[in-house]
Amino acid sequence: MNKESTFRKQVRRIYHLLMVLFGLFVVTGGSLIYYVNNPGAFDFKAKSEIASITPVEDEDRIENGIHVRTGLIDSEGLMVVVNNCTNCHSAKLVTQNRMTKEGWNTTIKWMQETQNLWDLGGNQEIIVNYLVTNYPPKAKGRRMTLTDIEWYELED
Ligand code: HEC
Repeated sequence: MNKESTFRKQVRRIYHLLMVLFGLFVVTGGSLIYYVNNPGAFDFKAKSEIASITPVEDEDRIENGIHVRTGLIDSEGLMVVVNNCTNCHSAKLVTQNRMTKEGWNTTIKWMQETQNLWDLGGNQEIIVNYLVTNYPPKAKGRRMTLTDIEWYELED
């Protein structure tokens, strides 16, 4: 083997080595740049967890001032009424009966004595206030029954 061919071999070897190094440099550099621009790209676990969260529908949704599930007006004390007065019968039965404060207290007492309605404690005032404020007795559509009538005797 002469001197020249040995030299050539060495040059080729160095050239090969440089190419390999350059290739490695390009691959790692490229990955790094990609990672910097997409930090979550290699975080496979986190991605699948985010995708599995689904929104839960709110069963106490209020739309246009109305509690959708029961149809009750959204006002102070709403949830106390929902939680105490819509378990046994629909809220319709409550709202179609327009009463005064005394009327409501009597109705509640009646349900407690005959329908197993529980003691409402301090909530009773909140409930009655809510009902009287939002569902007050309507103006009477018929005249009141006459009282104090002076009857006269028919004489022949
Ligand atoms: C433990 C069950 C129960 C609960 C809770 C309950 N009620 Fe009642 N309520 C009844 C029953 C039973 C009736 C009779 C239903 C019927 O006649 O069909 C009734 C009837 C009524 C009536 C109609 C009364 C009438 O004279 O016709 C109104 C108004 C009423 N409830 C309002 C309320 C309000 C306000 C609340 C919340 C404080 C409430 N209810 C909670 C059981 C209950």
